[in-house]
Amino acid sequence: MKLEVTESSGMASLAWNSRLESFLDLVRSRRATRHFQPEPVPQHLLDAVLEAARWAPSGFNLQPTHFVVVTNAAVKAKLYPACMKQRQVMEAGATVVFTGDRHVVDNHFERVLQQDRAAGAINSAYEQLLRRAVPLSFNRGPLGIGWLWKALVGKMVQRFIPIPSIQAIHKDYWLAKQVCLSAMVFMLAAEAAGLATCPMEGFGEYQVRQALGIPSSQTVVLVVAVGYADNSAAKKTRLPLDGLVHRDHW
Ligand SMILES: Cc1cc2nc3c(=O)[nH]c(=O)nc-3n(C[C@H](O)[C@H](O)[C@H](O)COP(=O)(O)O)c2cc1C
Repeated sequence: MKLEVTESSGMASLAWNSRLESFLDLVRSRRATRHFQPEPVPQHLLDAVLEAARWAPSGFNLQPTHFVVVTNAAVKAKLYPACMKQRQVMEAGATVVFTGDRHVVDNHFERVLQQDRAAGAINSAYEQLLRRAVPLSFNRGPLGIGWLWKALVGKMVQRFIPIPSIQAIHKDYWLAKQVCLSAMVFMLAAEAAGLATCPMEGFGEYQVRQALGIPSSQTVVLVVAVGYADNSAAKKTRLPLDGLVHRDHW
């Protein structure tokens, strides 16, 4: 895929590659939607959008994201107060609660390795590297206090050697990154399917967990209402790239 920028007009008149152009249209047309028609979301559309979210990338391909899909009116009524009575939850055909598995290494690591190995997606050298790197980053050690020495050693060595944020210490931060990428793919896929969405962080994690029976091993990251929009006038702006893009140096 190649973009051509004409000298006279710069970014404004890129000779668009049509795939990129339609993608930009899609991204720009998505709006956080607060009013929905009461129509349900057809199951096949919801499944297709979830399928797109499943293909979001994740660190070490561990895929910690779970999707709790709420369509039942009685269950929505329980979720509604947990989401600070945001009307989208009651109105939208479905609301999906995106959670991240705090025990994802125990639950997925071997399975993913096996699947990727069988598909020829990883070679044995990379598998060995993962087998070293993943426990080093995630394991909390005996009594769950292994993160303490990791935090201590991490702090000391990070000035000399670049080390990424250690998952054993910053598990929720790590999960939030993974889950939000899935949620973003979900929202764009929904837009492509003619559905509107509203991402929500306005909820009480404890109350959402209680309403839907979500185990404490899951971190509740984001709630997304999805359905048919009841308004077309929603507008939003974005700040210009100037001032946000830093080229080669901050
Ligand atoms: C992480 C996140 C949390 C949000 N939480 C809420 C929320 O609880 N309720 C709500 O009505 N909108 C929520 N929004 C929507 C934002 O207000 C909205 O995305 C922003 O104003 C930009 O508008 P747009 O999405 O239509 O472009 C949230 C958005 C994000 C990304």
